[in-house]
Amino acid sequence: MQGKGFFVRPKKEIFYTTINNNMKRVFLFLWVLWAMLPIAAQVTSVRSGELWPDDQGQHINAHGGGVLKYGDTYYWFGEHKSDHTSDALVGVTCYSSKDLLNWKNCGVALSVSDERGSDIERGCILERPKVIYNKVTKKFCMWFHLELKGRGYNAARYGVAVANRPEGPYKFLYSQRADAGTWPIEFGSQELAVVDTLNARNFKESWTPAWLKAIGQGLYVKRDFGTGQMSRDMTLYVDDDGKAYHIFSSEENLTLHIAELTGDYLHHTGRYTRVAPAGHNEAPAIFKHEGTYWMITSGCTGWEPNEARMFSAPSIWGPWTQHPNPCRGPRADKTFGGQSTFILPVDGKYIFMADIWRPRHPSDARYIWLPIEFEDNKPVVRWQDDWKF
Ligand code: DGJ
Repeated sequence: MQGKGFFVRPKKEIFYTTINNNMKRVFLFLWVLWAMLPIAAQVTSVRSGELWPDDQGQHINAHGGGVLKYGDTYYWFGEHKSDHTSDALVGVTCYSSKDLLNWKNCGVALSVSDERGSDIERGCILERPKVIYNKVTKKFCMWFHLELKGRGYNAARYGVAVANRPEGPYKFLYSQRADAGTWPIEFGSQELAVVDTLNARNFKESWTPAWLKAIGQGLYVKRDFGTGQMSRDMTLYVDDDGKAYHIFSSEENLTLHIAELTGDYLHHTGRYTRVAPAGHNEAPAIFKHEGTYWMITSGCTGWEPNEARMFSAPSIWGPWTQHPNPCRGPRADKTFGGQSTFILPVDGKYIFMADIWRPRHPSDARYIWLPIEFEDNKPVVRWQDDWKF
């Protein structure tokens, strides 16, 4: 009897219409879900100063960073910047890529701590992280500039963390000032005799020729000899022989120091040299081309851009010679609105990396990536709106 009872079999055409409608609903539902997924379009070229979306379509948040190549993958580490403060609320982020254009967000490599009094307590200042791989210990070693929470830029320390995998998680090891109780390698008996005569109390005024001369001679090296040398803007460099170096702004940002690292890349050996004493350099980035070491730095104007500087040396230990600004193009006198952070070697070429800071909206800071060319055997960084590797 059709049409009576609970289990009435629908007519064939009604049965198929119901199935079709249900399938349509399922497809519509799946399509809406797919449309909601934040799938980013492929990035096909470098557009310095523009937003740079990661694999989730979010602007890459890895500022003051550096890149490590491990296997066939590049890892970009940088400061996570929040929307309203430059203090570290998250830590160091990591992104990975095989083509240097499309970056996968690997999350937080080194997290700030919620433990009160921790060196890397949430709200500290954690800047310019760099990671190098130690082939002997098989560890990934991260160094960064650290300022203790609530103390402005007074601590002037470096921090060290270590991981077993490139993307982390990194374990924080320690932070401190540099090379306490050690003189730079170029300080022989003559230099030390001069240092002996220097006394900070004799200089009531800064920036006088006499003060600058005393800084050059080591006034602040002497001042900080016992407690350790100040360590702010920084980079790391691994040389062809496997030796690694920590290059940082010291002496109230007046002089750069290059300090040799121990074989495990986790400490200073105590051997260090000063570069451009009293030259007021920040943001060091370094590479070696055909046996010559090249370093690009900035002046010290906070988050505001200034003119890039360039130095070269036949050995990491110097002597370092200053050259004119390597930037060419619009706003070359202001490093195109940016500040150097790293120089990445790629297949015998080099990429200059810099940050366009946005201190009022730190997470919106932008990146400058430009190829380094050579003119008269000297590096030149020419602005390009859009370029491919
Ligand atoms: C310039 C440095 O290069 C940055 O890393 C940051 O420390 C700002 N100064 C803070 O003003």
